[in-house]
Amino acid sequence: MSIRPLLVLVVQRLRYYYYKSRGYDVDRSIQLQRRLNLDRANPKGIHIGKNTAITSQVTILSHHYPWKMEGNQYISHVDTYIGDNCLVGIGAIILAGVRIGNNVVVAAGSVVTKDVPSDVIVAGNPARVIKADIMMERLGSASGSPRVFVDRHPGVPSSAATNDVSDHASLVKDPA
Ligand SMILES: CC(C)(COP(=O)(O)OP(=O)(O)OC[C@H]1O[C@@H](n2cnc3c(N)ncnc32)[C@H](O)[C@@H]1OP(=O)(O)O)[C@@H](O)C(=O)NCCC(=O)NCCS
Repeated sequence: MSIRPLLVLVVQRLRYYYYKSRGYDVDRSIQLQRRLNLDRANPKGIHIGKNTAITSQVTILSHHYPWKMEGNQYISHVDTYIGDNCLVGIGAIILAGVRIGNNVVVAAGSVVTKDVPSDVIVAGNPARVIKADIMMERLGSASGSPRVFVDRHPGVPSSAATNDVSDHASLVKDPA
């Protein structure tokens, strides 16, 4: 029997405890790859759900800089949410205050500037919905099992999906 799955699990647990001890709101079941850039100014503002994978070199922000004017106040620290069962692709950047739903794939290198609904793939800069109504599944029950997405509408060109993530913003479940 290979020792690799055990080592992967140990490394994942160590990463989980590392980020948890620094105040990040991450679920124990998440997978965190290397060289992450999670906002150190406001760790408590980063919320990541169950069975979500954050791949290498992803940046997640939870403070505005420069500070943002809202009403009569300047705002810095905000909450950024990534839901359950998501995959954030390599090198993606999630800007402060964004809410990402469940079962979402953020394509490699995307810059997410607005809320994202559940069950979609977003890609590009700024990130747009390229596929809607997908299902995320695992090929197996172990934490390291490969992830697949199932396209419920194969053959439908991606251009048929809406290009405006803000259309769906109201669908994002408030995780608070
Ligand atoms: C998004 C992804 C899952 C592919 O999804 P898909 O539904 O198979 O997408 P397709 O390849 O059919 O491409 C659909 C459209 O999105 C575009 N697209 C795909 N990935 C993109 C990306 N990362 N950035 C910008 N656009 C992208 C394609 O160019 C295509 O555009 P078009 O319709 O104008 O031709 C894949 O590109 C991706 O980014 N995977 C994550 C990889 C990663 O980070 N792995 C971690 C390794 S540990």
